[in-house]
Amino acid sequence: MELSSERPMGTSLQHDKPIYLDYNATTPVDPQVYHAMEPYFKEYFGNPASAAHQWGWIAENAATKARGQVASLIGAKSMEVFFTSGATEANNWAIFGLLTKLREENPTAPIHFITSTIEHSSIMKAMAAAEKMGAEVDFLPVNSYGQVELETIRKAIKPHTKLMSFIWVNNEIGTINPIPEIAKIAKENKIYLHTDATQAAGKIPMNVTEMGVDLMSFSGHKIYGPKGVGALYIRGKDPKVQLNPLLHGGGQERGLRSGSLNVPGIVGMGVAAEICQATMAEECKRLRELRDLFWQTLQEKIPGIRMNGHPTERASNLLNITLPGYKTEGLLPRLQKLGVSTGSACGTGAMVVSHVLRGIGLSVDEVQCSIRLSLGRWSNEEEVLRAAEILKNALH
Ligand SMILES: Cc1ncc(COP(=O)(O)O)c(C=O)c1O
Repeated sequence: MELSSERPMGTSLQHDKPIYLDYNATTPVDPQVYHAMEPYFKEYFGNPASAAHQWGWIAENAATKARGQVASLIGAKSMEVFFTSGATEANNWAIFGLLTKLREENPTAPIHFITSTIEHSSIMKAMAAAEKMGAEVDFLPVNSYGQVELETIRKAIKPHTKLMSFIWVNNEIGTINPIPEIAKIAKENKIYLHTDATQAAGKIPMNVTEMGVDLMSFSGHKIYGPKGVGALYIRGKDPKVQLNPLLHGGGQERGLRSGSLNVPGIVGMGVAAEICQATMAEECKRLRELRDLFWQTLQEKIPGIRMNGHPTERASNLLNITLPGYKTEGLLPRLQKLGVSTGSACGTGAMVVSHVLRGIGLSVDEVQCSIRLSLGRWSNEEEVLRAAEILKNALH
């Protein structure tokens, strides 16, 4: 599989068009993915659960093929991949699926979970809800680069720790956690390791079987697939992870995730995974060079600019920058030509300040002066140079 020569609309190269620099929020659907999905909205509309006729068989075969493509991307077996509505559901399922299972096995035994202070909100809030349901949860601090330190993890482990959950690649700052090393600690202590790999899958090579990951969440729309589809990897042996379902009903996904399968979405995620797998090495190198050019140009143009996150252990497509003295609230009207994400945003009437940037030690003021710039498949040199110029011109 090769990269498509077709460019998705909305990522136009025309000189006066806005530049999309928010690939970590979502990626455009790759045209090849879109074309592969199309027949499953039209002639192949069947329900994979319809075992009595060809419409059902065609849909079932398509989902099976996609499961294999997704499994291959992460180094799992097909039967260990369970499709969900996205990474939010997968994250919630890992936490509550385990909590309810453990409760069922022993209603009075104490349960301890470990996570960090800079997880995605679907882990932060699910863990907080698990706490309300009686689990003990530790939110471990991270270092100034955004990595959770192995010694901090070792110290937090208790005899009744059952699950650790750490983000693989941070969505805001791009820092990569040492998941293989954390997996060893988890194994030594017979604790399940879940990782939110939404920003890691398709971007860094991984083999969950060999790395010793037990549960892993990821999503279609961060890998040039559609929104509304994702997956939870559930280790099938050594150890076999037992989770309760989050959704009860028709018994799809081998009884663990009910609901008619989103066949077009699943087909799209499968093809998206296959393209990522085939092009990852080259694409990562290209993006790293582009990101480094972007950073170098920004530093030349903007004195005092700072980069957040780990200097080397970080995603190849991301720059999180602080522009001291320039609040993004004031800057945004002058950045209409750029699609970027800010460290603080106005949520429902109130200012929401990034818990990730606060978690790595930035002051509220610094967070308010921070911007995330994320590159992707259709980013190129002309765009990053133009974006650097637009950013510079906005600072006055
Ligand atoms: C790290 C991380 N986890 C989880 C999610 C949620 O993914 P989804 O939109 O598929 O629910 C996101 C998306 O923003 C993410 O970046």
